[in-house]
Amino acid sequence: MRKPFVAGNWKENTDSRSSVELAKAVVAGSKGLAREKVHVAVLPPFVYLSSVVQAVSSSGVAVGAQDVYFEPKGAFTGEISPGMLKDVGCTYVLCGHSERRHVLGESDELVGKKLTAALGGGLLPILCVGELLEERDRGQMEAVVARHLKTGLAGLSAEKMSAVTIAYEPVWAIGTGRTATPQQAQDVHAFIRNWLTDVYGAEVAGQARILYGGSVKGDNARELMAQEDVDGLLVGGASLKADEFVRIIQAAA
Ligand code: PGA
Repeated sequence: MRKPFVAGNWKENTDSRSSVELAKAVVAGSKGLAREKVHVAVLPPFVYLSSVVQAVSSSGVAVGAQDVYFEPKGAFTGEISPGMLKDVGCTYVLCGHSERRHVLGESDELVGKKLTAALGGGLLPILCVGELLEERDRGQMEAVVARHLKTGLAGLSAEKMSAVTIAYEPVWAIGTGRTATPQQAQDVHAFIRNWLTDVYGAEVAGQARILYGGSVKGDNARELMAQEDVDGLLVGGASLKADEFVRIIQAAA
């Protein structure tokens, strides 16, 4: 049984006060669900990680970071290592979010290095994969998703794969209000699970959690979660409103 997983990616939002308020509201709203019925994580900006970790302490809500660098320490101005994230109480970390790939210019290889380093540092990585609209229109959707999987998981053993969550986020659905239909999501999720079966075998693939992300809201969470291969949701905009995010958690549970 794959336990559902809902993660809220706050992106470059909130401030020192609102991040703590939001975290506390998520804890209150997900009581009895978080950990028992569904894994819940919030992913604040780096600078608010410590205070959010404190705000959710001894609740079922976990904390993750939105990015990480692969070097453990040294002269890498502005970067944050897996050890630092672990040190402040992070459990999860996103690797290869589409905004890192397409706005900040991260290469497939860099994403793979980050994922390997995150695992080595004891974090649970969430590898984001997904195609641009023009790639879908050109019929390249599967090729792009397969490339993101291959490069993101490069060199990973089957045993380590069990610590990785995959998030399918079609770039055309992120922040646009245009959600993939439940069937579109299911089709790509099934493609991803088949890819994992080919590479890691049926057991690992059957246990792998594959999240959908892209304009998820309280209103569409239930029908997305009803799809066989949709195991959870990676939520951007709607995770900034506690009541909306809690509705999504309830739908997933
Ligand atoms: P969105 O973002 O829910 O605002 O579309 C999802 C994401 O980027 O993870």
